[in-house]
This record gives sequence, structure tokens and C-alpha cells, in this order.
Amino acid sequence: MAHQYVMVLDFGGQYNQLIARRVRDCGVFCEVHPYRISLEEIKAKNPIGIIFTGGPNSVYLNDSPKIDPAIFELGIPVLGICYGTQLMAYSLGGEVATAEKREYGRTETEFKPSCALFKGLPEKGITWMSHTDYISKLPEGFEVTAYTDVCPVAAMQNKEKKLYGIQYHPEVSHTENGIAMLKNFLYEVCGAVGDWSMENYAATSVQHLRDQIGEGTALLALSGGVDSSVAAALLSKAIGKRLHCIFVDHGLMRKNEGDEVESVFSKMDINFVRVNAKDRFLAKLAGVSDPETKRKIIGEEFIRVFEEEAKKIGAVNFLAQGTIYPDVIESGTGDAAVIKSHHNVGGLPDYVDFKEIVEPLRLLFKDEVRTLGLELGLPEFLVWRQPFPGPGLAIRVIGDITEDKLDILRDADYIFREELRLAGIDRDVHQYFAVLTNMRSVGVMGDGRTYDYTLALRGVTTTDFMTADWARIPYDLLEKISNRIVNEVGHINRVVYDITSKPPATIEWE
Ligand code: XMP
Repeated sequence: MAHQYVMVLDFGGQYNQLIARRVRDCGVFCEVHPYRISLEEIKAKNPIGIIFTGGPNSVYLNDSPKIDPAIFELGIPVLGICYGTQLMAYSLGGEVATAEKREYGRTETEFKPSCALFKGLPEKGITWMSHTDYISKLPEGFEVTAYTDVCPVAAMQNKEKKLYGIQYHPEVSHTENGIAMLKNFLYEVCGAVGDWSMENYAATSVQHLRDQIGEGTALLALSGGVDSSVAAALLSKAIGKRLHCIFVDHGLMRKNEGDEVESVFSKMDINFVRVNAKDRFLAKLAGVSDPETKRKIIGEEFIRVFEEEAKKIGAVNFLAQGTIYPDVIESGTGDAAVIKSHHNVGGLPDYVDFKEIVEPLRLLFKDEVRTLGLELGLPEFLVWRQPFPGPGLAIRVIGDITEDKLDILRDADYIFREELRLAGIDRDVHQYFAVLTNMRSVGVMGDGRTYDYTLALRGVTTTDFMTADWARIPYDLLEKISNRIVNEVGHINRVVYDITSKPPATIEWE
């Protein structure tokens, strides 16, 4: 697959994969590499441009990430972002200092339209800043191309050497025209032609998987969700019947879901097995209320079931998973904080006998996975399925899990989903579900006092599931749902709607 290539060098910032993703959205293939990559390796990859990411350090400290200044002599255009810009300035003889006041958030910024990055864009706009250090003296040969009230060098360029730096984050949606600026860097400066698409991604991934798996056999954890279904489609293209898909019905699925998954995948041209493992999962979870312990138990039990199935199949050397990028960052890579341990990330325990894990979607965001799914010919209803967490309803029954509670939750959740579908807003609300809290309260029904559970409804809108807003579901619809749930499902006498965004809350309650 010969296509143009842009290299993102990672200096430890929050948004590194997001930058790569934005570049791909602009039609240019892009990958993230650690900043320590050698000049030889960079040259061998023949990038048309290099992007330095942000990072949490101060360039003038001894142990902060540095770069060989020879990189600026390769004749390859470089775009620095935040720390990447400060590093460019510092490495080329400029000065970086600590500002008295941190500049954070939405910032009014003025741009010089003569700079290629801002070609065709308004001269004023909002950028997203997040820095304490600033460039106090430009390196020789550079000029200022954007500034704010607080920051004298919000952007700089050395046009002749094709070196550009911006202090703000063009990749986040809060920066107006940020993507257009990245696009200008790619097309106006690097000479991109836009020769990359999801079709290329599918072809490259299939080849990658063939190289990695060789003549081996792979076992895929198929949940019927978007991610594992797309992973299954990719893998089946790569290795055909040497792919074995195992659907573990852990008894923590939504109403009717196990049967629906079986009916879809058993018709496809893959090896599909459904394992009914409800009893063993519920036995392991009995009396457990800590969310992290629940996830760990479920993750571990999944692996055990896979191992057993793998043994039945014979020589299985690879475990395939539909892990996507937000799962990876939230589980912590390197120094990043662990928010929740997603059960399908982080490798296998030492004593597991698979040789390797294959994660073909590891670099993609959810909406990219959907595009890829459609590209691979998966049906719309599958591709547009809302996400469902691996641990299933176990993390939606707050506190300890019993079969009765699961049944209550399943019935209530079904009503919520059905009403959203009937109201025609099931695609506008990107994820929606019910949570059975462990709170009980007093109510009155007929002439009698009740003491029953509070059910919480959660609906969010989001593009990447890393941040989310609570969905503004119409009051009338909420009323109808609440009435139906209290009347039709036993043991619930109160329904609340969650109006917290992420952050500070997460989408799931556990
Ligand atoms: P949170 O709750 O972290 O959820 O804001 C973000 C997205 O990830 C899903 N999620 C999971 N998916 N295994 C998964 O496969 C998990 O352990 C898990 N926990 C949360 C969640 O449903 C939402 O879409």
C-alpha cells in the first residue's frame, strides 16, 4: 500500500492519538511514534510531514523529552503543537520561560493570514490553550504568526525551512478552524494529495493481520457489539475459517440480546460458538459490590472460558479483541492515570496459554470503527448498535448482583430503549441505558406503602465517548418512560434521570 505518510512524534500529551485521527480524517495516513525514534527510522519511513505533540514537561528541565536538532535539517516540514512548539523553539536557539499566569481554555487569538497554516481562514478566532511556559524569544529565522493578549507567540513559522509551531491545540473541537489549520499544514505545506481512506485502512489492517498471525489460529471474543463485530469482519477477511468467534453469554446481557447475537452471527461464514456461562459468572460475582472487583472477576472469568473453548478447538495461538483507542487511554498507557480498568485491555495474566493478543482496532475511535464496519460490509443495524460494556449489566446493577436484580433491570432497560426507538431519537442519543441503584426509598402505590429500588436512566450524546453530555430527552417522553417502568416492572417505585456530563462523571455508573 503506497500512500503518503505523516508521522506524529509523541511527547506525552493527552491528545496524541486524536491528532493522528484528525490527520487521517483529512485523508492522509498517519501514525504516532515515541519521540525517541531515531533519525534513521524517520528517514526510512519517508514522511511528508512530522507533527510534534504537546506534553506535560518544561523544555528547559534536564530530564524533559528532547529531540536531535538534526531533525529540522531533513527538509521535512515540521509542525509543533504546544510542548512540541516550545521544543522546536528551544532546540533552535530560542528561549522558553515560565509565564506568571497559566493560559488555559478558550482564548481569543489573532492570526496572520500570510501564514500558510491560516490560509483562507478568519484573522481572529478562538483557540484552546493549555500552557504555563511560553516562547519568550524566537529562534533565528522565525517570525510570529499568531498571538493572544497573554501569549506573544501563539504561532510561529520559518517559512523557508517549512517549520511551523502553534501554542494551542488545533486537534480539539474547541479550537475554531483547528482542523482547517491542520489541513493547511498537510496540503499547503507538506504537499499532501489525500490518498488515504478507510478502504486503505481495511486493506492495510488485513495485510498486517496476515503478517502477524501467519498460519496461526485466532480466537475472538465476540460480544455482538460494534467493536468486536468489526474486528470479526476484519479478521475473517484476513484469516477466514482459522478465526473462531466465541460469544460468551455471561448472563449479564440485555433483554433477548443473547439470542439476537446468536441469530446474526450463526448465519455468517465464520466459526461461531455460543457458550452459556451465566451460572459460573453469577457464582463468582455473588456478594461482590466493589466495581473494580466486579470488572476484574468478569475479565478473568472471560479469559478462563476462552481458554477452555480454545482447548476444545485445538491449537489456538492468538486471542483477538475489539479494543478501541478510548479503552486504551482510559486504562492507562505509560504515565496516564487509570480511570477504570476496562476488562479487555492490558494483556493477559502470565499463566494464560495464548501466544499473543491481536487488537486490530486499537488505534481507532468509535466513529472510525463504524465507518470501517460499513466499509467491510457489515449491516447498518449492527454498525449503529449503541456501545455495551464487556462486563454488561454487572456494572449497571449498583452493589451486589443477584438474578432478581438483573431481571428487574433488564425489563426496565427494555422499556427505556423501546420508548426511545418509538420516539425516533435512538440515534440522536448515542448511549442510553438504565441503572438499578442500590438505593431503596419509600413510595405509595394504591393504598399501600412501598419500599423499593430507585432506577436511574442515563442518556448521553458524544462523538468519541471520552467526553459526553447528558441528552436532553423531552420531559413528556421521560414521563411516559417513568410511568411505564413503575407500572410494568416490579420493585421499582422511583425513577431518576442522570443530568451529569463526562467529565466529571463517567458514562457508566461503575
Ligand atoms: P465510561 O463509563 O468509562 O464509558 O465513561 C465509556 C464507554 O466505554 C464503555 N465501557 C466499557 N466497555 N468494557 C467495555 O468494553 C468495559 O469495562 C467498559 N466500561 C465502560 C461505556 O459503556 C461507554 O460506552
